[in-house]
Amino acid sequence: MKKFVIKGPAKLTGAIDISGSKNSALPILAATLLTDEEVVLRNIPRLKDIETMSRLLRCLGADVVEDYPLIIVRAGRKKKYTAPYGIVKTMRGSFCVLGPLLARLGRAKVSLPGGCVIGVRPVDLHIKGIKALGADIRLDNGYVYAKAKALKGAEVYLGGMFGSSVLATANVMMCAVLAKGRTVIENAACEPEIVDLANVLKKMGAKIKGEGSPWIEIEGVNKLGGAEHEIIPDRIEAGTYIMAAGITNSEIRLKHVNLQHLGAVLDVLSGCDLQIKGGKTIDVIPGGAIKARNIATLPYPGFPTDLQAQFVALMTIANGTSVITERVYPDRFMHVPELNRMGANIKREGPYCVVQGVKELIGAPVMASDLRASAALVIAGLAAKGKTEVHRIYHLERGYENMIEKLRSVGADISEAKE
Ligand code: EPU
Repeated sequence: MKKFVIKGPAKLTGAIDISGSKNSALPILAATLLTDEEVVLRNIPRLKDIETMSRLLRCLGADVVEDYPLIIVRAGRKKKYTAPYGIVKTMRGSFCVLGPLLARLGRAKVSLPGGCVIGVRPVDLHIKGIKALGADIRLDNGYVYAKAKALKGAEVYLGGMFGSSVLATANVMMCAVLAKGRTVIENAACEPEIVDLANVLKKMGAKIKGEGSPWIEIEGVNKLGGAEHEIIPDRIEAGTYIMAAGITNSEIRLKHVNLQHLGAVLDVLSGCDLQIKGGKTIDVIPGGAIKARNIATLPYPGFPTDLQAQFVALMTIANGTSVITERVYPDRFMHVPELNRMGANIKREGPYCVVQGVKELIGAPVMASDLRASAALVIAGLAAKGKTEVHRIYHLERGYENMIEKLRSVGADISEAKE
């Protein structure tokens, strides 16, 4: 196993290139199963999760050429319909092959993904939506078995206890594009990653309206064809480096950003005295001391849960007290005890944590538990005085392309070492 060793406090300067979005690329890769023609995808980040999805596509009979940042998939005629436990358990995103397999082959056997360190993460909404399209679904031995002679469009409400679901919306959309007739998804996820998926599906010949709003309307077609598409920039990676600039009080530049996808984040950060200027290339300009701000995570266009941990890290050194409410994954606070080991003053109570800003963080050995918690520990390590060791950094390799190189290029003293 590997760890990151960070020596701080860092002063960052220079520019970082933002990669393509992991959470956009994963369902789009699943969508390639909907056609026997070639799909060419650009701006794909080289990440463990993407490699896992490529492995799954191969296992389902597709030819996949990985030439990052390019991936070409042809899911020709070698049709297999089983997504095995061994792959799905390592990455929940792979569950979204269910919709495309069922739509193209009339059957699918996909392992249930199981629990996850950030919370329970059920798949009831995926199943509800796909059942509504006429599929016969049974659960057996840890697998979802889905069958449908002819999928039929339907109106389906996809909201759950915690709002809309990104991947359930993606799964149902990918199933409905080849169903007969009209489907309406109500309370659909509005995330930019859903819009990106809809854009690829439309290039493949699908008829979709309303993506980006809570009502998505799909008119089924008989067949989809090949397409070429460039994945949108990763808004969570951009947000993470923006917070890295804030916590180290450094001015840095980020390239290949889509600021429109970061509205809630920019609004909160401007209240923290962290200015962001520019368009596709942005300059992050801290105004001195960071001010405390309260936030609540929400589905898009609200503040993203995937940036909550990094924001908590930023608030540890802010002037004042902030209350952070997690409304999407109420248990997603594994970073809290680790940040406290670095001298932070955070109290957690259910889905809230109260962060009392401290003068400085002190380097310490800390344990990464999931992707975004790990990112929070890395940015805290950049700000902390002395040596921080972030253990179990394999989580970071799932979602941050070349993190170490990118941070080094802006002057961070960060290296990788064996445990
Ligand atoms: N939910 C249900 N039932 C379902 C599906 C979801 O109750 O059938 C609940 C979840 O438990 C959660 C809420 O609905 O409380 C939202 O979950 P969602 O389904 O939107 O999450 P997801 O689609 O499984 C994607 C991202 C996550 C990101 C969430 C929320 C991918 C591959 N994953 O997951 O990304 O946190 O949306 O924005 O797109 C990450 O990148 O670190 C990550 C965890």
